[in-house]
Amino acid sequence: MTQTINPRKAAIIGCGFVGSATAFTLMQSRLFSELVLLDANEAKADGEAKDIAHGIPFSGQMKIYAGTYDDIADSAIIIITAGANQKPGETRLDLVHKNVAIYKSIIPEISKRDFQGILLIVSNPVDILTYTALKLSGFPENRVIGSGTVLDTARLKYALSEHLGVDSRSVHSFIIGEHGDSEIAAWSSTNVSGIPLNTFCEMRGHYNHDAAMDRIAEEVKNSAYDIISKKQATYYGIAMSVKRICECIIRNERSILPISSMMHGEYGISGISLSMPAIVGLNGIETHVPISLDADEAEKLRESAETLKKIAAELDLSTAIS
Ligand SMILES: NC(=O)c1ccc[n+]([C@@H]2O[C@H](COP(=O)([O-])OP(=O)(O)OC[C@H]3O[C@@H](n4cnc5c(N)ncnc54)[C@H](O)[C@@H]3O)[C@@H](O)[C@H]2O)c1
Repeated sequence: MTQTINPRKAAIIGCGFVGSATAFTLMQSRLFSELVLLDANEAKADGEAKDIAHGIPFSGQMKIYAGTYDDIADSAIIIITAGANQKPGETRLDLVHKNVAIYKSIIPEISKRDFQGILLIVSNPVDILTYTALKLSGFPENRVIGSGTVLDTARLKYALSEHLGVDSRSVHSFIIGEHGDSEIAAWSSTNVSGIPLNTFCEMRGHYNHDAAMDRIAEEVKNSAYDIISKKQATYYGIAMSVKRICECIIRNERSILPISSMMHGEYGISGISLSMPAIVGLNGIETHVPISLDADEAEKLRESAETLKKIAAELDLSTAIS
């Protein structure tokens, strides 16, 4: 019998910094009426669930509890944040073997329960783990989404809003490619409420465009390194990013978000998961939105894909632990 879906239920696997901040954010969002937390450390999941549940009287009625794989099989969305995080000096790609091994123990537990909802991958390296989850689960591609560069794009909008003295929600721009060192700021399509970026910069008294764009793109790319060196981990920004993705799915908003998903020939790239804008709704990824890129951006995107493909080619994804 096909597993049913409870459209107001979500689960989080991995209740460390990112998982617990995400749970706290989702509790306040009132998007779900049931939230199940699962961690290899069962006491940690239970402690986080109880602590967060004590905020419910200030938010709205719902159930939050620590559970098992049987408890989460009917979730509309399962968010996976389990895995090692970056230590100071480590890149996201350094985490690949540790976290692929962890995914080999998690994904089969989900697929053997005939899960019909959306898998939302957050652990790093997120593009490689999205690809891994897709291969290990055998789920249709629309139902396996990586949080991708949703966070990096928020960081870019925030940095531009500070630079230009304008609401970050009026800034339209994307970071695409790997969520990591080879990511690309898609400057050629960036605009502020329809006004080309350079024109808006000049309106605000900024003329040194190339230097400003280089500085901002570097700042965005290095944000995680900076924060991790100061407070061990990043979690509030990603928690808000996950909430935004869940909102699009649960409310069938069909917003365009730079999530990580499988490429099928866009910009000449295929066979790997990376971030590009896509319409996200109730069924997960509806379609890619191949924004126009200049020749340099498109070339850098292909290089980003090559970096990821080399790593994916080294993985043995035939040995899931079931
Ligand atoms: N995608 C993004 O934009 C983004 C942003 C920040 C962090 N991250 C990533 O999120 C992940 C988690 O980061 P964190 O700071 O919360 O780490 P953390 O070490 O605080 O938490 C990881 C949790 O995973 C649990 N875990 C490990 N193996 C498990 C398993 N097999 N089953 C269930 N739970 C398991 C651990 O017990 C721990 O509680 C890291 O990979 C990090 O790099 C991603």
